[in-house]
Amino acid sequence: MTPGEVVITRNLRESLNTYFDGKNYSYVGVLVDENTRAHCYDLVKDALPPHIILEIESGEDKKTLDTCASIWHQLTEARFDRKSLLINLGGGVIGDMGGFCAATYKRGIEFINLPTTLLAQVDASIGGKLGIDFQGFKNHIGLFQSPQKVIIHDHFLNTLPYKELRSGFAEVIKHNLIRDKAGWINLIKTPLKEQPWYDIIAHSTRVKQEIVAEDPLEKGLRKILNFGHTIGHAVESFYLNKPGKHLLHGEAIAVGMIAEAQLSTWKNGMPENECSQITNYLVDLYEPAPIDTNDIQEISRLALQDKKNQGLNIKCSLLEEIGKANYDIPLEQKEIHDALEQYNQLLPKHHQ
Ligand SMILES: NC(=O)c1ccc[n+]([C@@H]2O[C@H](COP(=O)([O-])OP(=O)(O)OC[C@H]3O[C@@H](n4cnc5c(N)ncnc54)[C@H](O)[C@@H]3O)[C@@H](O)[C@H]2O)c1
Ligand SMILES: [Zn+2]
Repeated sequence: MTPGEVVITRNLRESLNTYFDGKNYSYVGVLVDENTRAHCYDLVKDALPPHIILEIESGEDKKTLDTCASIWHQLTEARFDRKSLLINLGGGVIGDMGGFCAATYKRGIEFINLPTTLLAQVDASIGGKLGIDFQGFKNHIGLFQSPQKVIIHDHFLNTLPYKELRSGFAEVIKHNLIRDKAGWINLIKTPLKEQPWYDIIAHSTRVKQEIVAEDPLEKGLRKILNFGHTIGHAVESFYLNKPGKHLLHGEAIAVGMIAEAQLSTWKNGMPENECSQITNYLVDLYEPAPIDTNDIQEISRLALQDKKNQGLNIKCSLLEEIGKANYDIPLEQKEIHDALEQYNQLLPKHHQ
């Protein structure tokens, strides 16, 4: 995996022109969903060489093998050969799935990412993880491969619904919690809607890139990026097919970070006042719902199946203090269970 270059640009057209200068692709495709076609495509279309549009339906529930088949079909119909380029214009679903399709079509064609959600900008499009969901398991099928380039433009965020912005912000919060205490203190001073996005994205992508560069294949340090995700992913999977209760990725990760902050204090020496600070901030911002006591057992069982675990042992990343994380901390299912029960207790009474 050769890491592609990440550019955070104030001039999207210029960055695209620079990228295409001297390149000679035989075919270019732009992968969009109905939202990024409506809101994002106009910002880039004039700066692109002749291309076709490949459109899929938006949504995590479309991140499937069936949708891949439709993408491969469209590429085949348009006679894309190995010297073609796929441009992923969208959020994490488009980035993960479009990258997966490109990396496997005819054993791999080049692709670039133009991430249009905050989550994709600060997280999903960095670090080379590609894939799709399978039989209810998140990102169950996939591979590591980096795009040729990632071009990030914060103007895309102007049309993003608030809930989506807040979902992506969970990863920004995580990056500060695991790596930058001063950043965290600064972050929580400013309301979400007033955050200076260009700077926030530059900081967050830098944190992720530094960690990935040290450990691209997640053998060690990269695991700290999973803070909030052992429990968060289980929560996300559990509610994936529950109508009306479905959570966005970052909303589930916010729940996971609250539960794992608790575990950080119980098991990893994080001061209690820091745990409360994290919990209060996340509860205020995400207003998460309590988890039905009957569901806690199933969610803690799901956490055990997380693909990052080896065997029956859950290995988790926890905070030692704000700004410093450790990885490979063994956890028992019971401890996850207890942390989720404690999570319910920590919610304000009117949420419970
Ligand atoms: N590869 C990784 O390392 C990694 C890391 C984190 C998350 N992910 C994956 O990312 C996915 C979530 O990504 P996401 O939160 O971006 O979701 P998403 O791709 O589903 O996008 C969210 C919604 O916003 C719409 N949208 C996108 N850009 C828009 C814009 N500028 N204006 C208006 N609407 C817009 C989309 O159509 C969609 O409805 C998950 O599948 C998750 O597994 C991957
Ligand atoms: Zn995440």
